[in-house]
Amino acid sequence: MERRSIGIVMNGVTGRMGYRQHLVRSILAIREQGGLPAADGSRIWPEPVLVGRSERKLAELAAKHGLAYTTNLDAALARDDTHIYFDAQVTSEREGAIRKAIAAGKHVYTEKPLTESTESSLDLAALIRAQGLRNGVVQDKLFLPGLRKLKRLIDGGFFGRILSVRGEFGYWVFEGDWQPAQRPSWNYRAADGGGIVVDMFPHWHYVLEQLFAPVRSVTAHIATHVPTRVDEAGAEYKATADDAAYGIFELDGGIVAQINSSWTTRVFRDELVEFQVDGTHGSAVAGLRNCRIQSRATTPKPVWNPDLPVTEPFRDQWQTVPDNEEFDNGFKVQWEHFLRHVVDATPFPWDFMAGVRGVQLAELGLVSAREGRRVEIPELS
Ligand SMILES: NC(=O)c1ccc[n+]([C@@H]2O[C@H](COP(=O)([O-])OP(=O)(O)OC[C@H]3O[C@@H](n4cnc5c(N)ncnc54)[C@H](O)[C@@H]3O)[C@@H](O)[C@H]2O)c1
Repeated sequence: MERRSIGIVMNGVTGRMGYRQHLVRSILAIREQGGLPAADGSRIWPEPVLVGRSERKLAELAAKHGLAYTTNLDAALARDDTHIYFDAQVTSEREGAIRKAIAAGKHVYTEKPLTESTESSLDLAALIRAQGLRNGVVQDKLFLPGLRKLKRLIDGGFFGRILSVRGEFGYWVFEGDWQPAQRPSWNYRAADGGGIVVDMFPHWHYVLEQLFAPVRSVTAHIATHVPTRVDEAGAEYKATADDAAYGIFELDGGIVAQINSSWTTRVFRDELVEFQVDGTHGSAVAGLRNCRIQSRATTPKPVWNPDLPVTEPFRDQWQTVPDNEEFDNGFKVQWEHFLRHVVDATPFPWDFMAGVRGVQLAELGLVSAREGRRVEIPELS
């Protein structure tokens, strides 16, 4: 079958997300499966050109996977055989690189958050739209098995009227002194684009908006619980960004979502993120992979009596939602949608404007925390 090469300038592939999720688990995995069928019967064949700052690291990666590389972004963007620019750099470097890609006439797919402010994100969204270029922002959580099952429940009317959503996200991120930290140090420095609000609120935005309803207000309290950490080089630094955020979001239809995000909590849950959804006809608890439900008819009737030991095996009273389909890697599934969007103009709702709304929620979440008040979220146009 004829191959249709789509050149992708991949920037930031030496990083955690860029390498593992985007290059290996998505782009190389698509090649391993023989490419992607296009509408005209050919196979879409992603052809990455790796871009980054370190010649040594890039050469190593390129040799390992038999790919092209360069440390010169402008040169990669100037090539006629590159069609898409992809960005998984640290957030603070993203805007400038995307502007160059747009100027070079490339379609753009990027990690979240789109940029560091609503204003600049909106500007990029307007710019890329005016150029008629395709654009997308990673919204990987939507493609996770647990959230896909949740979506299936919502679409099937399982919940009746949805009342509330409670999310718990987080785990202990080591300070870096006696055990190395498992996240990069820039995540804990505000000046470098760090902070859990900026990192996680864009995710919560698309999860809430696309599964439940538009988000109308935010009330957030943030904290930097661990004030000093140790970086990759073993040097102590001051953590200037929030490492925990306690948020309340009001959605259309009176749905109240409460989401805790923390890098300073220890996990006593089944998964690193879990959402409990309560509705008039049933409830569900969804994680990354699993989803359990309890319907109205099987809801027990506990009676509050602290003098007695627990009377009900509460966890056993839930039922597991079956897979009923094969779930592929979420990043790869979204990449496949984007490649088809570029080649065949198939719909792709996870565009820059969706990304802007995620950045806006993070920005207004920080305003809420700073000013100690509930902040309404204006519609963007
Ligand atoms: N979708 C998700 O679930 C998810 C999860 C984590 C991170 N992210 C996003 O992915 C992006 C990368 O995060 P990561 O955790 O992979 O980070 P990382 O520190 O592991 O990787 C950062 C990459 O950017 C490059 N870079 C370019 N300019 C840099 C500079 N001036 N300083 C430092 N690095 C620079 C690095 O070389 C590296 O390739 C961030 O925007 C982050 O918000 C998304």
